[in-house]
Amino acid sequence: MVRANAAYSFHDLNPESGRFLDDVIDGLSHPQKSLPPKYFYDAQGCALFEAICGLPEYYLTRAEIALMQAHVGDMARHLGPGCVLIEYGSGSARKTRILIAATGPAAYVPIDIARAELNATAAEITREFPQVRVVAICADYSHPIALPDLEGLGARRRIVYFPGSTIGNLTPAEATAFLAGVRAQLGAGGGILIGVDLKKDPARLDSAYNDARGVTAAFNLNLLARINRELGADFDLSAFRHRAFYDAASGRIEMHLESVKAQEVRIGGRSIRFRKGETIHTENSYKYSVREFQDLAAAAGLAPVECWMDPDRLFGVHYLVVQ
Ligand code: AVJ
Repeated sequence: MVRANAAYSFHDLNPESGRFLDDVIDGLSHPQKSLPPKYFYDAQGCALFEAICGLPEYYLTRAEIALMQAHVGDMARHLGPGCVLIEYGSGSARKTRILIAATGPAAYVPIDIARAELNATAAEITREFPQVRVVAICADYSHPIALPDLEGLGARRRIVYFPGSTIGNLTPAEATAFLAGVRAQLGAGGGILIGVDLKKDPARLDSAYNDARGVTAAFNLNLLARINRELGADFDLSAFRHRAFYDAASGRIEMHLESVKAQEVRIGGRSIRFRKGETIHTENSYKYSVREFQDLAAAAGLAPVECWMDPDRLFGVHYLVVQ
């Protein structure tokens, strides 16, 4: 479906249509139960994620915004004016506004699975930057997506922006495959500006995913609430507990929902059994040293140009180009 108004165009590739129930049943049918993190982001999940970004313990967003503010001049010089700026997981596009203001792209292509937030962001960017063509794409990019015809903008230099360390949701093998797909989409002369959370003191990581106010717990548990709302399941939210921990061997934060007792849950006419202490693995959040990420990107045919970091080395924003 393509809808165009005077201001921006909106391509709806219908992510999630009919897949939510299948993905939930499939994820809960394996010995280690799991659910895909992309389903966190319904309207309530988007609001909870925005709240996480403002938490004192969640350093990622603040560190990345500060990096954008400090180095956007450098970044804009690398990107050059008049590019097509494609953003994966645009969300509220808070950091993107800094980049657009400094770079002056010809077009902005936000891609997100959360339809309502994508519409709101596309409308806001159109209003704030009337000279930038906005082509919004509602899609699930955990599977390769074909960009729709970019309305005559195809000849311009393409830059992919992928902030927030969202790449950390993927395993290293998946991340390499994703970046190889991005590389193909960029074509010769293209580049990617990508935010990647750095390895650091595990205590700092643990507290970022176990905040004192319990917002991350509410974000995690909202996944079960969403399954109840949309699929008519009967998860008892008080019978599951948020768990998050850093696993140094794999270099990742794991988030789980732990069943506090033996119980049975009904979903779509099926019954799913939980043992006491059994978990649903809901998210991975990989952390990479600069070198580890550069090696991973090199395997996808992307060459490092620069990596900006804050003085405390909490977070990195990498710029890499097609080799
Ligand atoms: C949006 C995937 C980058 O992994 O830090 C925040 C999501 N999960 N708190 C992250 C999240 C728990 C976030 N990403």
